[in-house]
Amino acid sequence: MSDSNKNSKQLSNTEQDKLWGGRFSESTDAFVEAFTASINFDKRLYKHDIAGSKAHAKMLNKVGILTDNELSEIEAGLDKIISDIENDQFEWSVALEDIHMNIEARLTDKIGITGKKLHTGRSRNDQIATDIRLWLREQIDLVCGEITRLQKGLLDIAEREAATILPGFTHLQVAQPITFGHHMLAWYEMLVRDHERMQDCRKRVNIMPLGAAALAGTTYPIDRKYTAELLGFECPSNNSLDSVSDRDFAIEFISAASIIMMHLSRFSEELVLWTSAQFNFIDLPDRFCTGSSIMPQKKNPDVPELVRGKTGRVYGDLLSLLTLMKSQPLAYNKDNQEDKEPLFDTVDTLLGSLRAYADMMPHIKTKKDNMRAAAMQGFSTATDLADYLVGKDMPFRDAHEVVGKAVSYGVETEKDLSEMTLEELQQFSKVITDDVFEVLTLEGSVAARDHIGGTAPNQIRARVKDAKNSNKQLQ
Ligand code: ARG
Repeated sequence: MSDSNKNSKQLSNTEQDKLWGGRFSESTDAFVEAFTASINFDKRLYKHDIAGSKAHAKMLNKVGILTDNELSEIEAGLDKIISDIENDQFEWSVALEDIHMNIEARLTDKIGITGKKLHTGRSRNDQIATDIRLWLREQIDLVCGEITRLQKGLLDIAEREAATILPGFTHLQVAQPITFGHHMLAWYEMLVRDHERMQDCRKRVNIMPLGAAALAGTTYPIDRKYTAELLGFECPSNNSLDSVSDRDFAIEFISAASIIMMHLSRFSEELVLWTSAQFNFIDLPDRFCTGSSIMPQKKNPDVPELVRGKTGRVYGDLLSLLTLMKSQPLAYNKDNQEDKEPLFDTVDTLLGSLRAYADMMPHIKTKKDNMRAAAMQGFSTATDLADYLVGKDMPFRDAHEVVGKAVSYGVETEKDLSEMTLEELQQFSKVITDDVFEVLTLEGSVAARDHIGGTAPNQIRARVKDAKNSNKQLQ
């Protein structure tokens, strides 16, 4: 007997198991069955699938399609299934393909013929679209919670380190002195927009596809507004073809997630630099780092490095989904089953990365002396000297030229501007007097940038206060 014959003989036993088996005259090829099944990953949606089924059944009862008894039987059966799943008593079947058919078949096993009525007026196509939206809505809320937790950590550091000075960089060259609080608030502001993007995406996720059925709607007198209300959706979707087919909401979520990961990768890059011996600006708690198996002195910033690396996964997930959706004709196509793994991967990666950051950031230690010493190098107060000269009526371009010469002298003599004598400074301009030294101090430099968005400690404290007032969870 050939292998394929052996296979089909084996398979004929399962032929009757398929919930859609009616029009088929041979059973599914064993490999194809495994290849097309999604149960190994979509079982993750069991709670949302059951919530959708319960709401659907309640609606069917309301419009007179299910009796009160039938509804109670279905509800009790579904509750039992949840507890079976959660107690590891549920046997998942690849032959039953996906989460929907696994649950429906089990329901019928448990409650008999009434179980077969649950699928009245719906299809797996609107069911899966509903499940993902319900699940994603919940995940967005978790993501937003983690963003807020991280933001709170950053605000607390900003408050504490409002007057701590470090060099600000452009082109990774020392540019001007800034406050550490200002730097933390820059990260905070990125997260404000990330949170907004997630909330905005949530509005479009929170629309109910259920009732679209396979693609065209259904002949039963369903009440979609009622089902939407039961499931906490804003409203039912307006077009059944669109509802079962588009995954733009998932693409939008992964786009917003990609931007968050991009931001986290930037934070990561700075933490990696700041913990290096060359910068030595901060210390990460040991519990967020690991050592080297060969070099005993090493303490590696693994968490930031990993988050930086994981950014690539999420970008990859975005490209997967964009490509998955590209050129798909209306309405549902099996291609869409491939939406789940990238989406799940993005959620897991994003939540993990945010959690690691929210846990870690409140415990970083700043090394103020090292930061200050670094800010003293690289002529970080050169712009302040130029501004001082402008204050003495010199046009800015001329002031720029004068300071450029003073800096060049400083490079030659290895002196910072603040380390030069008044006579040395006066070689470059006679308008310079004793009061120049105030503007050449790091503290004077940051304090002078005292406007909304500037680096002055006052401004940092004001922004922190404002942010905390705007949201109790940040206090
Ligand atoms: N497992 C499918 C998915 O994830 C559910 C919908 C299947 N519909 C169908 N007609 N095969 O998209």
